[in-house]
Amino acid sequence: MESLVSESSMPATPVQGHSLVIRGGRPLSGTVDVKGAKNLATKAMVAALLGDSASVLRDVPDISDVWVVRSLLEAHGVRVDAVEDGALRLDPSGAVSAHMEEIDAHAGASRIPILFCGPLLHLLGQAFIPDLGGCRIGDRPIDFHLDALRAFGAVVEKLPTGIRLSAPGGLRGANIELPYPSVGATEQVLLTAVRAQGTTELRNAAIEPEIMDLIGVLQKMGAIISYEPNRVVFIEGVDRLSGYDHRCIFDRNEAASWACAALATDGDIFVGGAKQQEMLTFLNVYRKAGGVFDIAEDGIRFRRGPELKPVVVETDVHPGFMTDWQQPLIVALTQARGTSVVHETVYENRLGFTRALVQMGADIVVHPQGIDAPGRRVPRRKLEQAAVINGPTPLHGADVQVPDLRGGYSYVIAALAAEGESTVRNIDIIRRGYARFLDKLTALGADFDVLG
Ligand code: EPU
Repeated sequence: MESLVSESSMPATPVQGHSLVIRGGRPLSGTVDVKGAKNLATKAMVAALLGDSASVLRDVPDISDVWVVRSLLEAHGVRVDAVEDGALRLDPSGAVSAHMEEIDAHAGASRIPILFCGPLLHLLGQAFIPDLGGCRIGDRPIDFHLDALRAFGAVVEKLPTGIRLSAPGGLRGANIELPYPSVGATEQVLLTAVRAQGTTELRNAAIEPEIMDLIGVLQKMGAIISYEPNRVVFIEGVDRLSGYDHRCIFDRNEAASWACAALATDGDIFVGGAKQQEMLTFLNVYRKAGGVFDIAEDGIRFRRGPELKPVVVETDVHPGFMTDWQQPLIVALTQARGTSVVHETVYENRLGFTRALVQMGADIVVHPQGIDAPGRRVPRRKLEQAAVINGPTPLHGADVQVPDLRGGYSYVIAALAAEGESTVRNIDIIRRGYARFLDKLTALGADFDVLG
């Protein structure tokens, strides 16, 4: 197989513009291993800035979001070394303000830079954050982040190219209630409060497993953080934090993606490193949709049962069904007999990717204002949408363009499930969140060529 540039060489900026030519209609079968979660590793790397000694992060995934954070840390004088397979040593002892141009070079590449604010304010008294990128799945504002930082005493100044922050009087603990249990805003508060003066009470916090793992990282560094079951987190600020040694929690989004690939292609995939507890909600839906799974000590095996069945799913914050799970699931649901409904309630624009599936033969209608259905949680969010999927419909090859990370993954598995040849363009986005993606496809028996 031709390699998609060097998947292990970790360039600072991903190469754009590769395509996959996929010959579908073959089940994906075999074993893939999932490593550290994208949504923890990148945040734990930022946390290393808060320590007064070096940190070691293990099972770091080889993905472009990690490369971006690594470059940003290096631009701020943090020394980052690959110390052994999949581990990074992060030494913040030489941390300095980065040059505007170096930070700006990352504008548009990721949303993680916003999480540098608190640590940089503690360390340097100021921070500059470029315009943020990340997947185009709605407006993705940062108002919760900025409001929280202001509550800690930061002064926020908006510039044409980004945001400048300063903390003339230092950062003080605050009482903060998030309007929505945002993952990023919860992380922002944690990373800022641990070194702020006094106690912070955060209400309506996100409680995703990756956030719990970040709390674990911060506790290893010396932070004092407790939480109540009702989304309330207390953080007692401390004067100093040290480095940590931590192994990232596994990537449950990647595990769910491969599980859906087995369902969609009628394959049989053992996902090494997948664990049950963090995937309980996913596994319930998987079973209801006609999937079968066997849980082992070292991973979970996923395959189809006798028939695929339609399901009604609503995405939600943890412990609900994750928004990042719906895209590959929808591909599998095109093969279920009957009508499935997927309500997207986390982002306002995360069903657009289904247009390409329709091009491939799927029967999917998106209702941009959402639809009512019995048993819905109340109150509904204003921004939700719904996809109605009628199946089974044979899928056929098409020429499609990857729109975002999870949508892109779902196009690849749709093309693998489809009869005939497909071209999936702009696959480099997939490297934001799937480590050694092409190697894994090859290991599972996929038939494809890389172009570009
Ligand atoms: N929101 C605001 N204002 C804010 C922040 C968020 O209105 O200041 C809204 C968002 O627009 C969205 C909702 O709150 O409608 C949830 O956003 P959240 O902050 O929870 O998401 P995030 O932190 O930006 C992370 C993951 C996403 C994942 C979501 C939900 C990272 C780097 N990204 O995003 O991952 O979908 O949480 O679990 O951790 C992906 O992996 O493909 C991905 C997009």
